[in-house]
Amino acid sequence: MKIFLDTANLEEIRKYAEMGLIDGVTTNPALVAREGADFREVVSEICTIIDGPVSAEVVSTDANTMIKEARLISKLHKNIVVKLPAIPDGFTALKTCSSEGIKTNFTLVYTVTQALMAGKLGATYVSPFVGRMEATSTGGSQLIRDIIQIYKNYEFNTKVLAASMRNIIYVREAALAGSHVATIPPEVLNDMLWSELSDSALKGFLEEWNKLSEDKRSYFN
Ligand code: E4P
Repeated sequence: MKIFLDTANLEEIRKYAEMGLIDGVTTNPALVAREGADFREVVSEICTIIDGPVSAEVVSTDANTMIKEARLISKLHKNIVVKLPAIPDGFTALKTCSSEGIKTNFTLVYTVTQALMAGKLGATYVSPFVGRMEATSTGGSQLIRDIIQIYKNYEFNTKVLAASMRNIIYVREAALAGSHVATIPPEVLNDMLWSELSDSALKGFLEEWNKLSEDKRSYFN
């Protein structure tokens, strides 16, 4: 499963890119606004940090303006993927973007039928919002499984990008379901690397190690 970082925070992107843990980045209007930075500058800068897909979202809700914004955003860098919202006009914009070869991430997907139609219209990625769905007690993880099955049934090339990954349980579910990608906020990615048991076991090993006489540990000096 590819891992994208779900943030517009340059520091976090640099940190996890240097660790070699991320294959791409997703942003949305709220994440960009949270950084208080200029849209074009921040998205362009992200593209210089990470050599992989970078999703940036349109901010209009009518098809014609979405198409204009999509064309504009796609010119920022070859790795740009334009996010279009799963609303009726978003489907119209998706059709045009696909025909123009603009890479797309069809976002805010909450139903299997939205994903089916986005696949038919040639979306590059679809983003089911697992965490937000689970918050309303519907099955976000089941949604991922269903979309993957349907894309297999019809041999769609569209990749499933599990989004709204608000904890590591959702990441586990996405990976078990065979999601192609999960986009993960920095704090959840941090949780994915850590276990209290690893820390305490290591502490025990090092306590034993330090009981060894200093000359016998000198190899590391
Ligand atoms: C994905 O592309 C979205 O930016 C993101 O996953 C939304 O996550 P949230 O539901 O936690 O805001």
